[in-house]
Amino acid sequence: MKTRFKPAGIIGIGSCLPENVLTNSDLEKMVDTSDEWIIKRTGIRERRILDKGQPAYSIGYEAALRAIEDAGISAEDIDLIIVATETPDYLTPSTACILQGKLGARNAAAFDLNAACTGMIYALSVARQYVSSGTYRYVLVVCCEGLSKVTDWQDRKTCVLFGDAAGAVVIGEVEEGYGIIDTYLGSDGEAGRCLTIPCCHMDESDIEKRTHENKRVLWMDGSEVFKFAVRIMEHATEKILDLTGTLPGDLKMIFPHQANVRIIEGALKRLGISDENMMPVIHKYGNISSASIPVSIDEAYRAGRLLKGDKILLVGFGGGLTWGSAIIRWNKNQPGDTGVN
Ligand code: ACO
Repeated sequence: MKTRFKPAGIIGIGSCLPENVLTNSDLEKMVDTSDEWIIKRTGIRERRILDKGQPAYSIGYEAALRAIEDAGISAEDIDLIIVATETPDYLTPSTACILQGKLGARNAAAFDLNAACTGMIYALSVARQYVSSGTYRYVLVVCCEGLSKVTDWQDRKTCVLFGDAAGAVVIGEVEEGYGIIDTYLGSDGEAGRCLTIPCCHMDESDIEKRTHENKRVLWMDGSEVFKFAVRIMEHATEKILDLTGTLPGDLKMIFPHQANVRIIEGALKRLGISDENMMPVIHKYGNISSASIPVSIDEAYRAGRLLKGDKILLVGFGGGLTWGSAIIRWNKNQPGDTGVN
């Protein structure tokens, strides 16, 4: 007998940003930069930063609570927690295990997944398999990043780009024809050295590239990553449109990973998609890595820009190098509506 796969989708969503705002003019006092340069080259005006001593899991916890509430379930209903992060507070316990304990999700298994800025799409793809196969009923995905902890605050080439944030979704069964239609994932480890954050090991080249005292910081070849990002956004978008038989005109909104407005504008222009179809958050949060896509979906949803039946496209790229895309037919009408029969 043929196995029937259950349609799986986002039944709850939430996000959380730290309260501290770091503006471009604050950065002018820290490094040789200007508000004008940062806005012109990146589109970023300000970003949110965790308090000194505040763990990234604290915002992941708040985002998770909001997503669970929006899904109308309790923490004990969750079967699995996947945290997408490239900035875990500890290597062990994983951020997922920390959240499992803090949420009281006593029936849940838990693990972290690292696909850098593509983390949301990788985690969505994994969560979908568990729900569609009937293995688990509810999977909580939390994208939780504390990039300020791995930023070299003396390096003007990177410190103006990043911020801290968390976004979370609950994946569960939805009506037939709704939810995650398909996902596409890719990676290129050979090119991975153009964006690194060392952890337990550092080779000579890692040390040489980091010109200040703190060596456990993010280093990036900005122009290499820029070229890769524009090319891969276009490729991953075309691939998922093709896989799902979707036309750009069918899309209500597109949610790209927001690393730099110039990357987004360049890719959308080549794809013939209007930037009015996206929810910009980069100007106020900077590059928030895996949290960028769920935070922008949450803001669009709470602003009433997403209604049941809308087709949306998610596309991400990041360290690894990794990339991915997804098409979702939105299954919720407003916050509090689980979209489940
Ligand atoms: N303020 C003033 N000048 C600066 C600054 C700054 N903050 N940063 C760099 N400059 C200078 C450079 O030193 C250089 O000066 P020079 O010509 O005298 O050497 C000049 O500005 C131009 O530098 P570029 O690096 O060529 O600037 P570019 O226009 O490429 O912008 C940027 C740099 C914003 C980093 C861009 O390359 C970019 O966005 N790259 C992609 C980043 C990205 O998408 N990352 C995603 C993955 S992140 C993840 O997974 C964690």
